[in-house]
Amino acid sequence: MPSPKIARAREKFLPFASPSVGQEEIDGVAECLRSGWLTTGRKVRAFEEDFRAYIGCRHALAVSSCSAALHLALEAVGVREGDEVVTSPMTFTATAAAIEHLGARPVFADCEADTLNLDSRLLEERIGPKTRAILPIHFGGAACDMDAIVAVARGHGLAVVEDAAHALPTRYRGQLIGTIGDVTCFSFYVTKNVTTGEGGMVTTERDEYAERMRLMHLHGMSRDAWRRYTENGAWSYEVLAPGFKYNLSDIAAAIGIPQLRSCDRFHARRLEIAKRYDEALGPLEEVEIPAVRDPVAHSWHLYVIQLNLPALRIDRDRFVAEMMARKIGVSVHFIPLHLHPYYRQRYGYQRSDLPQASAAHERILSLPIYAKMSEADVEDVIAAVRDVVEAHRR
Ligand SMILES: Cc1ncc(COP(=O)(O)O)c(C=O)c1O
Repeated sequence: MPSPKIARAREKFLPFASPSVGQEEIDGVAECLRSGWLTTGRKVRAFEEDFRAYIGCRHALAVSSCSAALHLALEAVGVREGDEVVTSPMTFTATAAAIEHLGARPVFADCEADTLNLDSRLLEERIGPKTRAILPIHFGGAACDMDAIVAVARGHGLAVVEDAAHALPTRYRGQLIGTIGDVTCFSFYVTKNVTTGEGGMVTTERDEYAERMRLMHLHGMSRDAWRRYTENGAWSYEVLAPGFKYNLSDIAAAIGIPQLRSCDRFHARRLEIAKRYDEALGPLEEVEIPAVRDPVAHSWHLYVIQLNLPALRIDRDRFVAEMMARKIGVSVHFIPLHLHPYYRQRYGYQRSDLPQASAAHERILSLPIYAKMSEADVEDVIAAVRDVVEAHRR
């Protein structure tokens, strides 16, 4: 419970995440509704073009989610039944589910203890004759060691599909994530740095992957709705493959267009918050602030602290409860996938198979970080962490 001397006790609960939606998004959606064109059309094309220009990539295809993006990407690079894809357990279920959906097997390689990103030094030992691709996740918005990952992949003739759900805008060696791997998958889920409510984007430099994903994202049909139902469209189409229904609507794109314009502004605010957290929480012995190689290159989608458990009398779950009692929404990213019943039962994974991810899981806690947090919100989070630490340090 909050100690009586907590400097700033909040009246109102601070949500863990909340989108910054302004008048432009509202006007864009209203205009879209009035136009009568609600599904994929001009606004989606404009959003794709804006995204392409922002990232500086050759192709961008808007889709209904990052989960859909991952499925399409893996299909396009040729992952098929019986194949294996090496990925990190420190991710959301969607990453590995996309592999499973293709009848392939996710093979987990452990993460680095500090960044929680895939440890590129452990890749070689996970690669075998069935491996088809490597799927790194830019955890929290920190770029993975892409030079090493791409080098291993090229050495074995494997594709690289990046899960960049957290990585807009993340830079790697000065370059925005989105052009390095064979295909990069972004999320516009409501908690993400740029949102369309639900949505995603795939980017690639390769024409054949772009073509395959464009075909498969809308039923495998030779002609999309825009080309069938507009004045000069032709009604006829051919089914070239049994595709998916992964297109984005113009309503969502109408939110995405102004969101993307605000991306750098949102990012600047997240960076400010991260710096303030670093400065205020860094000196506390009971918590470790995120290990970040280049703070400006980090998207700051998540701010994940790791508890120094021997210095505390409470565990992480209690720490979460104590933060909630102080009206601060927090979360845990992630319960590593190998600890979930499905992966334990199907592949026999045990905690000791991936020691870094298993150990990190006990210690991690994500603090709120989003563009519309006020200075007072940020200070309330800091005060709550300090208060919990003071009340429960050894
Ligand atoms: C690492 C990661 N990958 C993929 C996804 C799936 O994104 P979406 O909700 O857009 O399908 C998420 C969602 O939170 C995520 O955190």
